[in-house]
Amino acid sequence: MKKWYHLLFVAICAAVLLVLFSAPEVTTPRLPADATHADRKGYPACPGCHGSDAERAMPEDHLLSTGSVAPNHLKCYFCHKPQED
Ligand code: HEC
Ligand code: HEC
Repeated sequence: MKKWYHLLFVAICAAVLLVLFSAPEVTTPRLPADATHADRKGYPACPGCHGSDAERAMPEDHLLSTGSVAPNHLKCYFCHKPQED
């Protein structure tokens, strides 16, 4: 009976790995490799240059209707990765 559980465990691990490896490529725009974007965790500074009237504005879904950054988009570096990572 024990053997059966081991097999099940291995099967579940294989399934998890398969899901992880077949995940799609990152499509979120990466940070430009310049000095401005070197401190990628300095997220309080980001909206100043990427507000809705900026040249390279954040998409609508980053902002609340009040114009401030949505809580789930505050930490830019969660999604916007450096060029090579
Ligand atoms: C001093 C102004 C300035 C600050 C501060 C700044 N950015 Fe930018 N950012 C720009 C400009 C200008 C561009 C577009 C030019 C370029 O691609 O180099 C850009 C481009 C980007 C892009 C790429 C967009 C694309 O089309 O690929 C992302 C993502 C980004 N910024 C995120 C951030 C994040 C996150 C922060 C905070 C860590 C930040 N920016 C801080 C000015 C700024
Ligand atoms: C939950 C993930 C997530 C977070 C957090 C996030 N972004 Fe984004 N961002 C995206 C995705 C996905 C896109 C591209 C899709 C789109 O245009 O809607 C994008 C697009 C952008 C663009 C437009 C790039 C272009 O090509 O025009 C800018 C600028 C940007 N984000 C800046 C920021 C800044 C600044 C922050 C932090 C205040 C931030 N993002 C936080 C996921 C995120």
